[in-house]
Amino acid sequence: MSDDVLHGPEEDPGERVERRWATVVTCIIAVLVVIAVFAGVQQAVLPQSRVATIDPRTLHLGGEFIESNLGSALQPDGSVIVRAVGQQYSFTPPCILVPTDSPITFRVTSADVVHGFLISGTSINLNLVPGYISSIPARFSTPGERHMPCHEFCGFGHEGMWGRIKVIDKAEFARLATDTKRLSCVAQ
Ligand code: CUA
Repeated sequence: MSDDVLHGPEEDPGERVERRWATVVTCIIAVLVVIAVFAGVQQAVLPQSRVATIDPRTLHLGGEFIESNLGSALQPDGSVIVRAVGQQYSFTPPCILVPTDSPITFRVTSADVVHGFLISGTSINLNLVPGYISSIPARFSTPGERHMPCHEFCGFGHEGMWGRIKVIDKAEFARLATDTKRLSCVAQ
């Protein structure tokens, strides 16, 4: 009894400091949780960067991704826009033709489920989400052929969902582009 009376008041300052510190730590944790929740919700609500929206049900009826507009289009400034669509279980066009040493922009979307768009040996790696246009700039310095596998599980035929990309000389590409407005290497 007398011990309590003696020690009680002596322990108070230490306890107060400890309680204050606990409050500070709790506040810090609370702030971190709020930041994490906010960042998570914001990321879930906003579409991924470099994308615009599009209705996947009407891709084939008109607009940018109508079949006749798919492939590589040489622009007046020498740049190239490549438009492609992924669907279970192929890419259209299945072989993409691009020139060397030119600024290229890929614009790709999905007609059904989430697919992956990856060009082997490059940092080009997109997710094709139905409803969104995924876009990425690229440049190829050497001619050659590269694989373009779907890297996102999209169903039973996923393993067989492959495309090719063929890089050809810039001058040759320009020559081909005078005859055909939308190039691909499907026939080659
Ligand atoms: Cu498409 Cu996997």
